[in-house]
Amino acid sequence: MSTRTHDRYGVEVEAADETAVQLLDEAVHTLTGLEGDPVAAISVAADSGLVLARCLLAYLHCSSGSRRGYALARDVLDGTPDPSAPRERAHLAAARSWAGGDLDAAAGQLEQALLRHPRDLLALKIAQDLYVTLGDQVNLRDVVARVLPAWPEGSPGAGLVAGMYAFGLEECGDYRAAERYGRAALAVNARDAGAAHAILHVFEMEGRQADGLAFVAETARDWGASYFAVHNWWHSGLYHLELGQLRHALAIYDDCVAAQGLATPLGRADATSLLWRLWLHGADIGERGSALAGAFEATLSDSAYCFNDWHAVMALALAGRLGTAYGLVAELTTRASGTNKVMLDRTGLDVLLGVIAFARRQYPAAIKLLSRARRHVTIRSAEIRCRRIVRSVRVLRRRPLSVGGGSHQQQSDRDGPTFERLHFRSSCDALAWRAQSALIPVAEFHHRFRRSLGGIAARLPQIRGRTSTSRAWPTSLASDFHLLVW
Ligand SMILES: [Fe+2]
Repeated sequence: MSTRTHDRYGVEVEAADETAVQLLDEAVHTLTGLEGDPVAAISVAADSGLVLARCLLAYLHCSSGSRRGYALARDVLDGTPDPSAPRERAHLAAARSWAGGDLDAAAGQLEQALLRHPRDLLALKIAQDLYVTLGDQVNLRDVVARVLPAWPEGSPGAGLVAGMYAFGLEECGDYRAAERYGRAALAVNARDAGAAHAILHVFEMEGRQADGLAFVAETARDWGASYFAVHNWWHSGLYHLELGQLRHALAIYDDCVAAQGLATPLGRADATSLLWRLWLHGADIGERGSALAGAFEATLSDSAYCFNDWHAVMALALAGRLGTAYGLVAELTTRASGTNKVMLDRTGLDVLLGVIAFARRQYPAAIKLLSRARRHVTIRSAEIRCRRIVRSVRVLRRRPLSVGGGSHQQQSDRDGPTFERLHFRSSCDALAWRAQSALIPVAEFHHRFRRSLGGIAARLPQIRGRTSTSRAWPTSLASDFHLLVW
């Protein structure tokens, strides 16, 4: 018989077994702090019939972004009787929505749950994850901000919430506050890989690569055992890359990303986005592209999230398997459903085809597709998290260095991705951030691009052959095509 008890954060749980609630608490803590693997604990709790444990297990299956994951989630939920308590009912509805492919509805149902129980850490964590998946950076911050008064400093779970808030602040451009909240979270729990991740983002966005590498050296022992460590290492690879340390970045790829991550969608995405950048910078990536593409090929027909498909297409492009990439895109146009289809239709297909066009050196088509996607990304808040690629279309507006004058170093800095990133940030006001992005005159670079089209093909070999350790960034229009997909 079920009774009412409370989780460690003081919110009611409908449970017949106190042990199952303790396992739920452990799993929610592990998941929120990205500390370890929550699956083992939650599977035992789910077997006991605890509704919230079943919902969490379903959420974890869904977070794979795969058709198989959705099917497993539906299996878990199908055997769950309808509960009477509002918290359990809200989670069950949200889990069913997500398992049915409707991520927007799931986020909305969890927001309703948080109105009733602002200390429902499970609802908060899953809602933020959904906003990350949807590319909704404003709400991934504000979903935490809305419940902050319920998490006073020193209360159970307040450190975890601070770490989540830090990430939201960073994504909205408030880097000082993000670092402050992130460090506060680490002061409570040094193993909070999510809080460390938020700080890693701050270093990236502020162009503080040396600080970032020092932070990694200082903290990796704390988050190194987390399943999320692959992604944090990926950030350190970016620091090396931006410092021109390609060999270090390649070592990070081999030892910390590819070696650990190719079995998971997140790991494959991290591996792809690092290897792609290395390739753009002229590093000798050897057979890594083929190995990476092989890891994707086994899962192509299972994907249900266009963010993963986008990385699959990039990996296939690195391996020269564009026929397979085209086949994937064709398949997606018929089988995508739910929120994924909305994202795919509005932005994702343009990104996928833009990457393929880029790989085929069909640059006018690549610019057209990626700039169109970028416009929608800025209007609707980074729908598929592709802004890192698409926003760099702005680089195409910049002219060769000789035009602007100044020293070589100044010019190099101004043409590097760090320069762009520093100017991409805005105040903490999300509306100002959006307005700034939306005002970027895409038509300008189209016009300039057409005028300069003739010299592009001849310049590409020159760019690809530049020294791998050069701190100076390439300055020709052809190099801008590479930055286009930075
Ligand atoms: Fe990240």
